[in-house]
Amino acid sequence: MRKKVSIVGAGNVGASTAMYLAQRNLCDIMLIDVVPDMPKGKALDLSQAGPLLNYDLKVEGTDDMSAMADSDMVVVTAGFPRKPGMTREDLINKNAEIVGPVAENIKKYAPKAFVLIVTNPLDIMTFHAWKKTGFPPNKVFGQAGILDSIRFRTFVGWELGVSPIDVQAMVLGGHGDTMVPLPSYTTVAGIPITELIPADRIKAISDRTRDGGGEIVKLLKTGSAFYAPAAATVDMVDAVLTDRKRLVPASAYVNGQYGLKDMYIGVPVIMGAGGIEKVIELKLSKDDLGALQKSGAVYKDMLKVLGY
Ligand code: NAI
Repeated sequence: MRKKVSIVGAGNVGASTAMYLAQRNLCDIMLIDVVPDMPKGKALDLSQAGPLLNYDLKVEGTDDMSAMADSDMVVVTAGFPRKPGMTREDLINKNAEIVGPVAENIKKYAPKAFVLIVTNPLDIMTFHAWKKTGFPPNKVFGQAGILDSIRFRTFVGWELGVSPIDVQAMVLGGHGDTMVPLPSYTTVAGIPITELIPADRIKAISDRTRDGGGEIVKLLKTGSAFYAPAAATVDMVDAVLTDRKRLVPASAYVNGQYGLKDMYIGVPVIMGAGGIEKVIELKLSKDDLGALQKSGAVYKDMLKVLGY
């Protein structure tokens, strides 16, 4: 039987995720939003692109949460995006009020699904969804690290005048100002960037990566990035549905790894048919470990806002 993925939140990130997912012809797609009709309209539109783009899976839309029944995975993009001047963390209360009930609906209608959270503040919303579903931690995870890493890869590629496709990068930590790009684990065709780019330029590229979302928010003025976030989200859906055993950064549950306890934070993981199959513990430098732990402390503290 064909796999089914429901996407809750049919806004910019949700609809773009549906579009990229459809292009992979990987699974049937159910777009769900609180706004009536709109998800149905987007689903019809996406279906009609199929004959040209060579996909023939089912894309449907609804405002009925029970339509997520039988999903193999539910992607949650429901919630408010940032506006200029806002941090992702400013969204915590408003988006928790959305993600909490969505997670309860997932528990009710799709109790066997993997849950992929995209809504910000990412690491906090992923923890919140994990608590509300009561699912095992390998089944609930968040997308941020792949996005931050592809931003880093793009900037490194531009800096060197080489294809960003040949750049591999790892960005850890929370999805916010404390994220931790790891230049010593970033390579171009296997060559560490520390051998190719001077330290001051690496710092500038790391800073631009850290502010990569904010740079786009300032330009868009009415919302936040969605093409690259959607592409990153689809990469994670694909890893699980096709059991690819991808080694990627993701917001995963940690309980002791890197000295971080009972929280979600961006760490390297192996993703496959078991969801988060393993959290990889890298031997980080003292500075990088310190930065990751500092980032962890910020997000651990922020969980208190939601009473955890
Ligand atoms: P958007 O405003 O375009 O779409 C959000 C959609 O959620 C709207 O269609 C809205 O009607 C819907 N919605 C609100 N409450 C709902 C509910 N209870 N059930 C179902 N749908 C509901 O926003 P956009 O740009 O798609 O961003 C969505 C979220 O993703 C934001 O929180 C944003 O900050 C986050 N984001 C996360 C990224 C990441 O890397 N983790 C990257 C980009 C955005």
